[in-house]
Amino acid sequence: MIGGETIRINQSKGKGVTAESAEIDQETAWRMMLGIVNGQRDTRLKRFADDAWQLPEQMTEQAMHLFERYLPLCQPPGTPWVIGQLGQSLDGRIATDSGESRYINDPEGIEHLHRLRALVDAVIIGSGTAAADDPQLTVRAVPGDNPVRVVLDRERKLPNSLGLFSDDAAPTVRVVRTSGLAEPPSEQVKELVIAPSEAGACPIRALVGALQARGLSRVLVEGGGLTVSRFLEAGQLNRLHLIVAPVILGSGLPAFTMSPLDQLDDALRPDFRRFELGRDTLFDLILE
Ligand SMILES: NC(=O)c1ccc[n+]([C@@H]2O[C@H](COP(=O)([O-])OP(=O)(O)OC[C@H]3O[C@@H](n4cnc5c(N)ncnc54)[C@H](OP(=O)(O)O)[C@@H]3O)[C@@H](O)[C@H]2O)c1
Repeated sequence: MIGGETIRINQSKGKGVTAESAEIDQETAWRMMLGIVNGQRDTRLKRFADDAWQLPEQMTEQAMHLFERYLPLCQPPGTPWVIGQLGQSLDGRIATDSGESRYINDPEGIEHLHRLRALVDAVIIGSGTAAADDPQLTVRAVPGDNPVRVVLDRERKLPNSLGLFSDDAAPTVRVVRTSGLAEPPSEQVKELVIAPSEAGACPIRALVGALQARGLSRVLVEGGGLTVSRFLEAGQLNRLHLIVAPVILGSGLPAFTMSPLDQLDDALRPDFRRFELGRDTLFDLILE
């Protein structure tokens, strides 16, 4: 890991990570982090005056790695906070031209994605992703609550037969541009009307505000590229996780589609932390 110091360990280097003295294992570490998210912070996790986390003295090495990766992402209930994520190839593609994205990344990426879902109130996807993948968007690989699923489908083009709208695995919100008369496909599916901008798109700031007003303040934007790009361009992402796989597709759907830059100096060069995720590299970009 390199990058900003948001975590400090309350111990001399190396102390407390041997098997004999280990107290907190990986599973306990994860449950402690879920505690923060659920508003029940474990007293063993403290914060310094500058907001950096102070870790417990005794834990396994695996627990320490988990804390390093996820503790800076744990927000107490009610915190307005948005994280985007994309898994991409070395040449910046998130899917083939035919829309196949399973799987560009190593299996470790799945567990990571499920951990991100467990840390938020809502997970957003664009209609392109819903149509191509019909993802469940639930937390299955690790303990944690399912987030509310939010699908951007302004013209109600997506079929009600999608699992997202019919499996009842978690509440689902369909974001549309006008109210409609049609019965929702299931009691678990609600519509959220966001008036379009002049360009016809859903204004991202208004969407984030409307979700916050419904108690969905911590949000994961899970894809695809167009949707994440719109959040990034609107300045609405606090963090962006890019998982880069050592693979070259040579063509396919791009991770980012944004307004052209006039000069290189205008490029985004955020602070970041970097982790190994199987054979892939996770960039934790800090945009706030
Ligand atoms: N590798 C990964 O991490 C990853 C993650 C997710 C998805 N994927 C892949 O990515 C592909 C889909 O990505 P994509 O970039 O083509 O599409 P996408 O981002 O999933 O969806 C784009 C669509 O969402 C709607 N949308 C998004 N932002 C909007 C806004 N502000 N206002 C109104 N509508 C908005 C629009 O639909 P309408 O035009 O219909 O209104 C837009 O065309 C799939 O092949 C999927 O498998 C990969």
